[in-house]
Amino acid sequence: MNLYEKPDFWSQKAHKEGYPARSVYKLEEILRKFPMLLPAKRAVVYALDLGAAPGSWSLYLWRNFTVRLTACDLNPLDSAALALAQNKKNNPNTDFTFIQGDFCAPDIEARLMASGPYNLILSDAAPSTSGNHSLDSLRSHEIAETALRYAQTCLKEGGGIVIKIFQGAGSAALFAKMRGLFTNVKSFKPQACRANSVETYFTGIKRLSPFQTLSPDKSNT
Ligand SMILES: C[S@@+](CC[C@H](N)C(=O)[O-])C[C@H]1O[C@@H](n2cnc3c(N)ncnc32)[C@H](O)[C@@H]1O
Repeated sequence: MNLYEKPDFWSQKAHKEGYPARSVYKLEEILRKFPMLLPAKRAVVYALDLGAAPGSWSLYLWRNFTVRLTACDLNPLDSAALALAQNKKNNPNTDFTFIQGDFCAPDIEARLMASGPYNLILSDAAPSTSGNHSLDSLRSHEIAETALRYAQTCLKEGGGIVIKIFQGAGSAALFAKMRGLFTNVKSFKPQACRANSVETYFTGIKRLSPFQTLSPDKSNT
């Protein structure tokens, strides 16, 4: 048994609370630390969840906010997450669409953009890891760049984004690009991340209007 197979505190908590993955606590911590990622109180969250499977982040949004949710993953959602998310009897104000496919592919991108605009974009997407850190970080960077492209095309002014990134050669460039698009950009590693993981999250708060975009060196940190 390797380290990742042993259920840890977060996995056990997720199981007890009915979430298919421990990653839910990363999102919970991110939203607690950066509440400005969300629209003002009681406003509907129009969210795009990229790399959503098995479905903990979608489920968390569904349970805690009035949300119009569009989610995408190469893999299907966990059946419990899908069933709950689609059970509109429990929450008639909730609308949920899941698209299975590659959000970097033009046809899927067109469908996801058509469901927008959004006021929250989340990308917990990660490549299958090869063990080669440089390669994994490069792939993660390509995925993160695509997530940021969604922000450029279908995130409303004032909206927020969370992007997972494997730290590496491309991270600083991505961070700088985000600083030109958002009022405030932060890097944050939640406690629920595994200690030996290279992943971190970049948060972009309050998307600037396309007419307002700043050069990276003039934006706030
Ligand atoms: C860490 S998991 C996401 C966990 C999810 N946030 C949750 O809480 O259940 C990363 C996911 O990213 C997905 N992924 C990676 N690249 C993708 C792509 N180009 N298009 C769609 N999904 C992708 C993987 O299939 C994987 O399910």
